[in-house]
Amino acid sequence: MVPEAHDVPESADDRNSMFDEDPLVSSSEHYVALGRIGNGAYGTVYKARSTHDGAIVALKKIRIHLTEDGFPTSTLREIATLKQIDQFEHPNIIRLLDICHGQGLNEQLMLYLVFEHIDQDMASYMERHKPPNAGIPKHTVKNFMHQIFYAIDFLHSHRIMHRDLKPQNILITNNGVVKLADFGLAKTYCFYMRLTSTVVTLWYRSPEVLLTCPYSASVDIWSAGCIMAEMMKGSPMFTGKSEGDQLDRIFRVIGTPGPGEWPPEVSLPLTSFKVRAPTPLEHVIPDLCREGRDLLSKILVFSPTQRLTSGELLDHPYFDDSSYMLPSFMGSQESINLDHSGSRELILS
Ligand SMILES: Nc1ncnc2c1ncn2[C@@H]1O[C@H](COP(=O)(O)OP(=O)(O)O)[C@@H](O)[C@H]1O
Ligand SMILES: [Mg+2]
Repeated sequence: MVPEAHDVPESADDRNSMFDEDPLVSSSEHYVALGRIGNGAYGTVYKARSTHDGAIVALKKIRIHLTEDGFPTSTLREIATLKQIDQFEHPNIIRLLDICHGQGLNEQLMLYLVFEHIDQDMASYMERHKPPNAGIPKHTVKNFMHQIFYAIDFLHSHRIMHRDLKPQNILITNNGVVKLADFGLAKTYCFYMRLTSTVVTLWYRSPEVLLTCPYSASVDIWSAGCIMAEMMKGSPMFTGKSEGDQLDRIFRVIGTPGPGEWPPEVSLPLTSFKVRAPTPLEHVIPDLCREGRDLLSKILVFSPTQRLTSGELLDHPYFDDSSYMLPSFMGSQESINLDHSGSRELILS
């Protein structure tokens, strides 16, 4: 599984002349791949070391098939979005350190997005807190959610929606700092958009995305709510096997919407769903405190316009008490027990 250490890119000659004048791309640094850490939708992620300063980084290697249309839009989108937001150096957004390119064969091009390396993603963090292990402490859930909403608030205030928030795309440092990653599906939005409905992984998809309605930034709020519920429950909140099944599982908790709430543009009739009464959240997530239930009940709302915004969520009484620590960039994180099992790695500053 671990690839042989090699320089990336292999030589300066590998540079493709199409990038010579592109300010987005630099190939000055070389990296030695140390091992594979992720295999995602359109790229492989390696842990790597910079031969320039020894820093440990995450390299997202993307094989690009150049067509007459040039670059795939998803790649261009990720680069443009990351570049746009990186200048703000937000503590809860993954830093893009470099972009370089490697050997290209025929119509192919290798592109390497170089990120700061983060110790783990939230999926593996949650995995380690599943039974029979102890669950995630309540104050840690609150701390992580505060950081997630803080990052979402930053993105939304810059008119960027992430669109694919899920535990695999949220990274957590060993110091308990949460960082949103994988902006492959992010897009600057102009209020309501009608876009492909396949953008968010099924379990974290909002009802309007599942129903292929126009949607807005509140899709990220829905996904964050599902992640909060999952951290508290120790298992995913809505585990649908198809769009219809996903909606039905959602309706079992929030209740089937009334005819007045059903979007008129949806071709699927409301009558195709069983009428279900809402289930009180204390039955679904018994460990969640009263304020937490109130917050979640204002996120898991069928109508996207009724869902609280990130700014409203940050002001919610759930975050009022001092049982959770402020994010570590503002102070110490000693109360967070991260229970690391993996090796400790140098984190880039
Ligand atoms: N900066 C990083 N540091 C450590 N691990 C990372 C980093 N970026 C991504 N990963 C790991 O690689 C996986 C895939 O990366 P991601 O950017 O989500 O690619 P994809 O678009 O293929 O889903 C992530 O789920 C995470 O486990
Ligand atoms: Mg991903």
